[in-house]
Amino acid sequence: MQGVARNFFTLAIIYAICGMMLGLSMAMSQDHTEMPTHAHIMVAGWLMSAVFAFFYHLFPAARASRLAVVHFWLTALSGIGLVVGLYFLLAGHEAIEPFVAVSSIGFFLGMLLFAWIALPVIYGSRPARENVPLWDR
Ligand code: HEM
Ligand code: HEM
Repeated sequence: MQGVARNFFTLAIIYAICGMMLGLSMAMSQDHTEMPTHAHIMVAGWLMSAVFAFFYHLFPAARASRLAVVHFWLTALSGIGLVVGLYFLLAGHEAIEPFVAVSSIGFFLGMLLFAWIALPVIYGSRPARENVPLWDR
């Protein structure tokens, strides 16, 4: 793995470790207040980052775009803002809600940017598919 693909996979592993530690702490303390935080770290963090990583790994044409770097940083910063903000929000710090809202919008914009990057590649790109048999193109 290279570039943005490797960055996304590293981020995914960090989310998985943090999210599982939070899950274990919830299970051991029998306090599930942070369940939505855990759920978003695991699914929006670990699983989505891993999907992005494998997409960029499989389609080098997408990885080569400078927009892919913007996509990584927008997704990483807003995603971390989202889950860290959510953690404090659910712990009772209501003043952080606007930060969580802005982070959520950033995360959504990251998804729109990914659609902009990914869809033309899967519909139009030849370089990423040159090893694929003719009948599967
Ligand atoms: C060390 C491993 C894990 C532990 C100890 C753990 C623990 C927990 C606990 C205690 C809850 C709260 C259940 C409830 O209150 O109903 C929960 C919910 C959840 N966990 Fe985990 N978890 C782990 C791994 C994972 C993984 C690997 C994923 C996904 C990739 C995941 C996704 C979720 C989701 C989506 C929920 C919310 C479920 C719902 O909406 O009812 N967890 N987890
Ligand atoms: C724009 C960013 C997002 C916002 C603002 C958001 C907001 C929410 C809200 C308000 C809930 C209900 C929580 C509750 O009832 O306590 C929720 C639940 C959930 N969301 Fe998200 N979400 C976002 C992104 C995502 C993404 C990208 C995923 C998965 C890839 C995801 C997976 C889940 C899951 C599994 C639950 C159920 C677990 C739970 O009840 O906490 N969310 N989300």
